[in-house]
Amino acid sequence: MKRILTGDRPTGPLHLGHYIGSLKNRVELQDKYDEFVIIADVQALTDNFENPEKVRKNVLETALDYLSVGINPQKTTIFIQSLVPEIAELTVYFLNLVTVSRLEQNPTVRAEIKEKGFGKSLPAGFLMYPVSQAADIAVFNADLVPVGEDQLPMIEQTREIVRKFNRLYGKTLIEPKEMLSEFSRFPGIDGKTKMSKSLGNVINLSDSSEVVKKQVMKMYTDPTRIRATDPGHIEGNVVFTYHDAFNPDKKEVEEMKEKYKKGKIGDVEIKNKLIEALNDFLEPICAKRKEYEKDLGEVQNILLKGTQKARETAAETLGRVRKAMKIDYF
Ligand code: TRP
Repeated sequence: MKRILTGDRPTGPLHLGHYIGSLKNRVELQDKYDEFVIIADVQALTDNFENPEKVRKNVLETALDYLSVGINPQKTTIFIQSLVPEIAELTVYFLNLVTVSRLEQNPTVRAEIKEKGFGKSLPAGFLMYPVSQAADIAVFNADLVPVGEDQLPMIEQTREIVRKFNRLYGKTLIEPKEMLSEFSRFPGIDGKTKMSKSLGNVINLSDSSEVVKKQVMKMYTDPTRIRATDPGHIEGNVVFTYHDAFNPDKKEVEEMKEKYKKGKIGDVEIKNKLIEALNDFLEPICAKRKEYEKDLGEVQNILLKGTQKARETAAETLGRVRKAMKIDYF
């Protein structure tokens, strides 16, 4: 079975963008692949090191999000990054294989540095987190990494490092490939290209039906349309993007689009239909979350078992890595 590795930083609740960009794939792929999902607390600390409580709390929240959308711990290994020290060790070896200027060119990291306004006080750990992410992927011999578009530079970086490692020390590690979902850049409710907690344009998987309603009512539609009788645009209309992603009744969606183009249906109606669709989608997720919330000991147990299994796999790789690097002394 081919191996998949993917994961998230535990910095806050996961949202619809995470679901459609990655979680949905994970649920589908867990039957066909040997799937590992990393809760990347070490990576989360690279820009939250002054806020360890936040990261700690969100490790469990992230696990709850995973379990409630249907990631099945019998099929998928869910684990905590910091408890697999082999990742940290491989990161140190990898750091020799990448230049500072290459790291500075990573477009995702560049954008984050700008967004966070680090300026001269950029922590070295933040700049090099793509190297640590390369170690996350390589240590598990992952063939495929299902991610959103913003993570492509990380996979590219991983391939470069792995290639260099294999060239220098002999073929030891696997060059991974990305797996993009159909909606790898899902817009926020404000129509901005990305749903993102920092932009405040999200609907979380754990949001109540009242919050969903409020957020959908705030959604952007077609700015060129003044009256409901004006012909409307579908392209770039967030409400329809969400319908396409979350409304299982494709016929209803097509009919609404036709009416919308002719000016025969109003924004409130298409929004009400979306609220219904989203609540239908979120209801079973919410119910499952409640079940697990009643038994947090079980959730911790799942994390503990997953982490033990992840460590065994990582230790096996590190054995080969040390041998290849001629540091397997005894
Ligand atoms: N960087 C990813 C994010 O911000 C999280 C992550 C950490 C990850 N390690 C990973 C994703 C390995 C895929 C593979 O969402």
